[in-house]
Amino acid sequence: MTAQVENGNLDLAAVVRECPEWFHSIELAPNVFTPGRKSAAVLADEWRKMELPDLRGKSVLDIGAYDGYFSFAAEKAGAARVVALDHYVWSVDMAGYMEDWRRSRSTGESLPPPHESRHQRPDELPGRKPFDAARRLLGSKVEPVVGDFMSMDLSTLGTFDVVLFLGVLYHLENPLLAARKLRSVTAPGGLLVVETEAMEIPGLEERPICEFFPGQELNNDASNWWSPNAKAIEGLCHAAGFQNARVWNAKAPSLSARLARAIPVLVPGSLTPKRYRAYAHAR
Ligand SMILES: C[S@@+](CC[C@H](N)C(=O)[O-])C[C@H]1O[C@@H](n2cnc3c(N)ncnc32)[C@H](O)[C@@H]1O
Repeated sequence: MTAQVENGNLDLAAVVRECPEWFHSIELAPNVFTPGRKSAAVLADEWRKMELPDLRGKSVLDIGAYDGYFSFAAEKAGAARVVALDHYVWSVDMAGYMEDWRRSRSTGESLPPPHESRHQRPDELPGRKPFDAARRLLGSKVEPVVGDFMSMDLSTLGTFDVVLFLGVLYHLENPLLAARKLRSVTAPGGLLVVETEAMEIPGLEERPICEFFPGQELNNDASNWWSPNAKAIEGLCHAAGFQNARVWNAKAPSLSARLARAIPVLVPGSLTPKRYRAYAHAR
């Protein structure tokens, strides 16, 4: 039986029986949160860091929506239309995959990426169940679209006032093509919001640089390919036709980084990338 909100009350245990694995902690009823791997506090902090404009009456596209936290937040903030686009995790039984992933962490065995795993079932979309359950329980009108942003016909989507591209860039094989596609779905005068894994190499902040991960080097996750620095994120946006790009949240350079900038070869380890999550606005 599917979980329901009755008289404002929600049986969270029934929700978890229906969907055991959540990525997002979503408040389904007052103080009732799904048990997401990303906590409600982290998500609220990310939402705040995005420095979004007033969303009332706006159209919003959330690419890589996963369980839909940011789509539902945009709807709650008054967006007139919200489209939640995903395909990758929606095609996988993430409850089964995460069980294997947790076991692989303790045994050290290597794990294929979700799309090559035994849990991949694109015809059934098992990974969309949490999004669907949250949408139903919230009484939401967010429109789910199943599609690979990189290969689907984007003209079927139209253009949007605000495009959210959160936690997706570093999963893509071709970030420049992605930036061009993002330009095509951003309405004239619209805003692209990017959140991504990023890095800085002390002393080389002024050069656009991306680190490449051929295997599972980043977070033991074979689906992570790239980590750009702030200049590379700006450069990607400009190369794709955005006029203005602004990146923030870079960590303040440490003393050794400042020294490295002055005398790079004399500071041991100065070329080690410093990792952080970057935010960007492009128009
Ligand atoms: C790290 S999760 C980020 C989820 C959410 N945006 C957030 O920030 O919490 C990456 C998401 O991007 C989706 N994704 C990856 N490649 C995609 C593609 N080519 N088209 C659409 N979604 C994609 C994955 O399925 C997953 O939901």
